[in-house]
Amino acid sequence: MTVALVGAGPGDPGLMTLRGAALLGAAEVVLYDRLLDRALLDLVPDDAELIDVGKGPGQSGRQADINELLVTLGRSGRRVVRLKGGDPFVFGRGGEEAEALRKAGIDVEVVPGVTSAVAAPGAAGIPVTHRTVSTSFTVVTGHAGDPDLPGVNWGALARTGGTLVILMGMGRRAEIVQELLAAGRPIDEPVAVVRWGTTADQEVVRTTLAGLPDVGLAAPATIVIGPVAALDVTGVVKVDGRVADGPD
Ligand SMILES: C[S@@+](CC[C@H](N)C(=O)[O-])C[C@H]1O[C@@H](n2cnc3c(N)ncnc32)[C@H](O)[C@@H]1O
Repeated sequence: MTVALVGAGPGDPGLMTLRGAALLGAAEVVLYDRLLDRALLDLVPDDAELIDVGKGPGQSGRQADINELLVTLGRSGRRVVRLKGGDPFVFGRGGEEAEALRKAGIDVEVVPGVTSAVAAPGAAGIPVTHRTVSTSFTVVTGHAGDPDLPGVNWGALARTGGTLVILMGMGRRAEIVQELLAAGRPIDEPVAVVRWGTTADQEVVRTTLAGLPDVGLAAPATIVIGPVAALDVTGVVKVDGRVADGPD
């Protein structure tokens, strides 16, 4: 008994791994999420069962039901694929699903996916690290999360430096800006917001910390904060195949 937790990638179906595609092609049951491109489901055999377990914002209470369903299906002996957006273990609750399966004695195969935390900025020409500009990046949730757990320490993150990549942050962007400014990040620090990155619907807004509260893009969007957010390395003129104004 094995259930595969498969990362679907950030949006463009072409960015899913070959292993993920092979598992979908052999699946008997597929449980999938809300943000996924339906083209991926075309890889699934016609007689397979497709189960939409898509969670909207604020519906995280259903996670227990999903875990239970995964265990039931895993025990049935059918070839089960749990298809999750981006990477299953980056803010995807894949860890909880894997734990529930293991607790029930069901083996888990994890197939990593291309995470939107890196792919959405990349699709906008923003490298999350860039020599001489940023030597680190931190991926953090902007969602308030569980009130019983410690929240994100924005002050500490601000002082750490490097690029900040915020997922699920648009709903709290004004508060996040206040916390970062209070911790000393400059008000004119570059910011980019990438919505539906890697897809045909991709939208990119470039601004600063001062302007972030006024950016009107809805989810799913990734916020990038730091000097790299001002770059568009795929948009500049290339000389001999190299970025003309990039570092050597
Ligand atoms: C619940 S998290 C899941 C992240 C996913 N596991 C990953 O690795 O990309 C969903 C959030 O990821 C970000 N996101 C997912 N797909 C995106 C895309 N195509 N473009 C921009 N941001 C995206 C948004 O911040 C969205 O609210």
